[in-house]
Amino acid sequence: MMSHVTFPGELRVVDDVVQAFCDLFRSSGARSVALSGGGTARDCYEELAVRARDWSAISVFFGDERMVPVEHPDSNEGMARQVLLDHVHPAAIHSMVAAGTDGYDAIIRAEPPIDFIHLGLGPDGHTASLFPGSPALAERERFVVETGDDLHPHRRLTFTVPAIERGVLVVVTVAGAEKREALDRVQRGEDVPATRIRAQRVIWLVDEAAAPDAPRSDA
Ligand code: 6PG
Repeated sequence: MMSHVTFPGELRVVDDVVQAFCDLFRSSGARSVALSGGGTARDCYEELAVRARDWSAISVFFGDERMVPVEHPDSNEGMARQVLLDHVHPAAIHSMVAAGTDGYDAIIRAEPPIDFIHLGLGPDGHTASLFPGSPALAERERFVVETGDDLHPHRRLTFTVPAIERGVLVVVTVAGAEKREALDRVQRGEDVPATRIRAQRVIWLVDEAAAPDAPRSDA
C-alpha cells in the first residue's frame, strides 16, 4: 500500500454512514444546506425526514443536478422533495434546474457561504457532477457550470471547486466496498475530482467497507 498523503479533511470511519450523517447535520445547527444526489444521499435524506428537526429556518440548495424535469426519476431535486423536503417544509428550496446555470450562479453568489454542503463520491472519484478530466474542474471564477460526460446520464449543472471551497462545512458520505478504490485514490492524493474538495471544514464519513485499512473513529 502506498503511503497516504495528507488527507483533504477529517476522516471518520463509522459503523453507519447514514446515522453519522444525520447526527452531524443535527449537531451542525446548519441554517443552509446544499443537497447531493445518489443512493447514499437518498438513504441519508430518508433518515433525516424521520428525525424531529425544525426546518422552518433552513434554506435548501443543490450541489448538482441533472438537467431533467423535477418529475423525472433521475432528478436530484425530485428525489430530495419526495423523501425529505415534502415532509419537513424548509424555509426555502432553491431549485437548480429552475434557475439554470447563470441564474444559480447568481443565487449562490448572493447568498452567504452555505453552512453544510453534502457531497458523495462516485466509484470513478467524481463528486457532485465534477467528473474525471472535466474542464469544469479548472473553473476558478464561476460557482455553477454546465457539464456532463459520456459515462453518466444527462447534462448536468454542478457546483465548481470554488463553490465547494466556499462551504462552511462540507460532509462527504462514502459507503460500501464499491467506493474503496476511489477513496483510496483520494487518500493517496491522486488527482481525481474528489481529491480537490477543500472548505473551511471537511469531514468524510466512511464505513469500514469503503475504508478497511483506516483506523476506527469514535464518531
Ligand atoms: C449525482 C450525485 C453524485 C453522487 C455520487 C455517489 O448527482 O449523481 O451528486 O455525485 O453523490 O455519484 O452516488 P451514490 O451514493 O449513489 O454512489
